[in-house]
This record gives sequence, C-alpha cells and structure tokens, in this order.
Amino acid sequence: MATPPSGNFLTGDQIRQTFLSFYEAKAHKRLPSASLVPEDTTVLLTIAGMLQFKPIFLGQRKAEVDRATTSQKCIRTNDIENVGRTARHHTFFEMLGNFSFGDYFKKEAIAWAWELSTQVLKLPVERLVVSVFETDDEAYDIWKNDIGVRETHIRRMGEADNFWASGPTGPCGPCSEIYYDFHPERGDQDIDLEDDSRFIEFYNLVFMQYNRDAEGKLTPLANQNIDTGMGLERMAQILQGKPNNYETDLIFPIIEAASKISGLHYEQASEAQKTSYKVIGDHVRAVSHLIADGVVASNLGRGYICGG
Ligand code: GLY
Repeated sequence: MATPPSGNFLTGDQIRQTFLSFYEAKAHKRLPSASLVPEDTTVLLTIAGMLQFKPIFLGQRKAEVDRATTSQKCIRTNDIENVGRTARHHTFFEMLGNFSFGDYFKKEAIAWAWELSTQVLKLPVERLVVSVFETDDEAYDIWKNDIGVRETHIRRMGEADNFWASGPTGPCGPCSEIYYDFHPERGDQDIDLEDDSRFIEFYNLVFMQYNRDAEGKLTPLANQNIDTGMGLERMAQILQGKPNNYETDLIFPIIEAASKISGLHYEQASEAQKTSYKVIGDHVRAVSHLIADGVVASNLGRGYICGG
C-alpha cells in the first residue's frame, strides 16, 4: 500500500488531544473513558463510545450535559480472527467520540466532522469519500450542498454498512461514514468503499434516533441524538503514513519490546512472524487494559476473554 501523503504527522497522543480539544471548543464536556467492564448487562465488555450514554439515549437517565466528547477504550472480540491478518482489525481500540443528547443533529455533526478532518487534521479533501444510508436524502444533501462534496464521492449504502446499532436491540440509527483514499490515482468512477486495499473508514457519524425492540420494530426515540466514533488507531495509520495500524506509535513499541525478547527484528521477520507480532501487540494492549479495569483471568465470561 502506498504511503499516504497526509502531510500532518501527529502522534497518537496528539490526535487524541486534538479531537477532544476541538469538541471542547464546540461546547462539549470532556468526559473520562468508562471502564471496559460496563454497567450495561446486555454486553460483556464496553464495545463502543456510546455504551455509557445508552440510558440517556433511551430516556432512562437525564443527561447532565447536552454535548460530550470522550476517548473510550473498547474491546470487540467479533473480529479476533482478523487480528494481525488485516491492516486494521483489533480486539482493543480507542474510539474518539462526540455526542449530542437531543441538542445538535445531522447538519452540525457533518459540518464539524468535516472541519476537524480537513482543516484541523488537514486530510486532503480529494482523498475523502463519504457514505450515507441509502434512503437518507437529508444527509446526502448536507454533504453535497452544504459541504460541497462531489457526487462521485458520496456513496449510498445499505443497512449492513450504514445503519448502526450497538446490539440486536436498543438505540440505533442511520449513519454516515468518512473514508480515506490511499489510492486516488485509481479514479473517481464507481468508487467501491468495500475495497480495503484502497479505502479505510475512519469516522462514523450515527444519527441515533430509534429504539429497536426484540421483534426488530423501530420506535423513534424521544430525542434525535448524535453518536460518533473515530478510530484512533486508524487515524494514526493515516497521519503517520504507516501501512497498517500496528506500525503506529500506539502499538509498535509493544512489538519492539517483543522483538527484543525474541531476538528477531520485526523488519527481518517473515509475513507469518509479523502477523504473530501484530497479534502480540493487540492482545497485550487488550489484556493490560482488562486487568487495569479489574478483570481477572478465569474460565468464565470476561475472565475467559482475559485469560484466553
Ligand atoms: N457508535 C459508533 C461506532 O462505534 O462506530
């Protein structure tokens, strides 16, 4: 994969601070990451930035602020078979998020995501492609008319890609995603965002406006909310010009420590050995954060994930 000329090198720490400060300046309260051990009993681990706010979206708890921003530690085990084998799958990752609890909605969320991406992080406009849910004309029009994105670079996608939910039931809604193009020289025609040798999705804007029940029925929530997620490791890959998330400063120091112990330099390792190093980098992060949040290895539930 070609090194992206993103032109604005930032460390992982700098990206996190830049994101949180940007939204603080837009009147969001910076809140701490919730524990990886969630209060929500429907999931074993914290899988998204919105989890600590789920009761607010559902109207079960009153929001203390209208807007919040967080860097949330997350663990998702559904992609574990891909860890180390693709450029971007992890069990542990940090999700940068901005949230609106019945305050601003699509127009502001889209405008600020674009301002942050293009003016603050300085991603070249010509390398960005966005997607919207297939029937979401409102989001499409905002991208086209307010932001000025070319129609070749706005893709309508179906429920699998552009309707986000934290689980089979609960708050959910159509979403709009921003992708970075590693290969703009391949042209503007029939852009295929599923081609992950070319594109990486780095920012998901969820228009959280429904509650889905066990029968799959969607009921509008009392408020129209915003829930977003920017993958810190993905943004680091883009801004640090790395071929994958593992070679960013967020993970590579663990790989270097492992290669010192094994005596085999990462650069001299075979592809299979590199995959093993990447798995070590991912799993060391996941297990360290689980232990820090009080999970003890065992043969049950969270403990099984920590020990396994
Ligand atoms: N809640 C948005 C995301 O995880 O992508």
